[in-house]
Amino acid sequence: MLLDELEARPFLMRPERVRERIEALDALERGLAFAGTARDAVVSRAEALVVELASLNDAAFRSLREDIRSGRGASRLLEWASCAELPDGDGYDPVDELVGGVLGFDPPDAPAVALSADMVFYQPTPARHVFAMLARMALDSRDVLVDLGSGLGHVPLLTAICTGARAIGVELEPAYVACARQAATGLSLRGVELLQQDVRSFDFGIGTVFYMYTPFRGAIMREVLDRLRVEAAHRDVRICTFGPCTPVVAREAWLSTSDAPRTDRIVVFRGTR
Ligand SMILES: C[S@@+](CC[C@H](N)C(=O)[O-])C[C@H]1O[C@@H](n2cnc3c(N)ncnc32)[C@H](O)[C@@H]1O
Repeated sequence: MLLDELEARPFLMRPERVRERIEALDALERGLAFAGTARDAVVSRAEALVVELASLNDAAFRSLREDIRSGRGASRLLEWASCAELPDGDGYDPVDELVGGVLGFDPPDAPAVALSADMVFYQPTPARHVFAMLARMALDSRDVLVDLGSGLGHVPLLTAICTGARAIGVELEPAYVACARQAATGLSLRGVELLQQDVRSFDFGIGTVFYMYTPFRGAIMREVLDRLRVEAAHRDVRICTFGPCTPVVAREAWLSTSDAPRTDRIVVFRGTR
């Protein structure tokens, strides 16, 4: 039934239907796992469709990567990734796979740095939330977005592709930084820097927008918030947060937001002077 249904959807073959193909591939792979080692005509048809859909997506990723290299990729990426609605929460969906295919990461080496108790392990922000933040922030060439604890660099890389702002990722783990740099080089991105350092040694004077997906807590968060407060005392600074760090940041009296301090969406704070 699934095969009949998918084969009756010719639009699945259109180049821009990457997300729908990812959903179809997930469904087919679940069906094939269920079939196990059984071999019959239905399994062969399903396998052939998997190969066809996967190669269409590979071709779509190659073509979009080429557009990004020549500086023309933003509108197509935004169109392909756009969602009618923004599901809350930290679950992943086909937009994340789409972004993974476009950014073309090599798998990172095993982490080399042991995180201290106040540092949070790597987990990427679901891409739909990153696109929603970029749409909302309307960044331009005067902005410098800094992702504090940038992991593989999704946020600065997507910022560099989709906006005119400069983007900086600050990440302690060298294996993740190497991966992010390789993705930036592979897409010939200018205006993005992936720095391997502890955020506490970063020059906060550079940024206009700071993003945190709960990268640390406790004393490190306190130190970072104090450094941001110093910046916000003399210039406009916006701070975007996602996840459990949001209620912590919301308690800062020098920040204001019109957003509810919820943890399942990105919340935008402004420094008040
Ligand atoms: C939850 S992940 C967020 C990744 C990325 N910002 C994103 O949203 O896709 C937190 C990251 O912060 C990094 N991190 C934790 N403490 C750090 C510190 N003191 N300096 C730099 N990076 C740190 C971790 O290694 C991890 O990659």
